[in-house]
Amino acid sequence: MPLDGKIKLKAEHLCKIYFSSKGDMDAVEDISLEVKENEFLVILGPGQCGKSVFLNMLCGLEEPTNGKIYRDGTEIHGTDEKISMVFQRMAIMPWKNSMQNVEMGPKYHGVNKNVRRQSGMRFLEMVGLKGFEGSYPRQLSGGMKQRVGIARAYNADAEILLMDEPFGALDAQTRYQMQDEILRIWEKDRRTILFVTNNIEEAIYLGDRIVLLSKRPAVVKEIYDLSHLPRPRDNVSRSFMEMRKEITDAMDLGLE
Ligand SMILES: Nc1ncnc2c1ncn2[C@@H]1O[C@H](COP(=O)(O)OP(=O)(O)OP(=O)(O)O)[C@@H](O)[C@H]1O
Ligand SMILES: [Mg+2]
Repeated sequence: MPLDGKIKLKAEHLCKIYFSSKGDMDAVEDISLEVKENEFLVILGPGQCGKSVFLNMLCGLEEPTNGKIYRDGTEIHGTDEKISMVFQRMAIMPWKNSMQNVEMGPKYHGVNKNVRRQSGMRFLEMVGLKGFEGSYPRQLSGGMKQRVGIARAYNADAEILLMDEPFGALDAQTRYQMQDEILRIWEKDRRTILFVTNNIEEAIYLGDRIVLLSKRPAVVKEIYDLSHLPRPRDNVSRSFMEMRKEITDAMDLGLE
């Protein structure tokens, strides 16, 4: 589907420095980027480069030291109801079952129980968890727990989903499955997605575009447009391999 080019989310010179008596820690030096409406934008960067800090600023969990964030052209500060996060470590509540986890957002906003259960069912079904509404996280596999996290982000009625290495803790096989799953879900219910990863192959498999970050403190090194690679992408095709080589050569190892 062609993107109409409307800018959904914009970061302007975002910077984060942690000040302490032991010395300052520059986590993000300067990131400016624009995410188009309904785009699947991947942020690729080496370990510890500042990816999570950057996403945390976008969702209001961290205050930028400098820079601005705009949603739909308007500057935002702190948390924003249209922006929702799927966390790096599985951040669903262990004492709540799948449905209770998924309905947290609407419940917080006072949505009537029947209404929020109905939409909760829709999204649990969409992520392939029909029949597991009453299961607790300890009864679910890693992939299933991340599916609950994705359903929860969708059910929060967010227009922008931030995903921080959501498949990083999964085994290789499940990770491949989940990559197909997230694309299937996104095709079905288009939202604007910002997906963070440190895995080059995952980035090329998923993204409309890839924003490549430097090692810490993060700056934008390069932006790759992948619109010439039709989906589903074949990770051993020539064009895929060429992209992989180009990005590998450009990527910092992330070691000091
Ligand atoms: N609250 C904090 N106080 C001080 N330093 C912090 C804080 N949060 C993060 N950092 C530092 O900022 C740097 C970037 O961290 P961040 O978690 O964003 O990395 P990352 O790119 O997400 O890494 P990974 O790929 O391992 O998830 C790290 O060196 C980290 O130690
Ligand atoms: Mg991280």
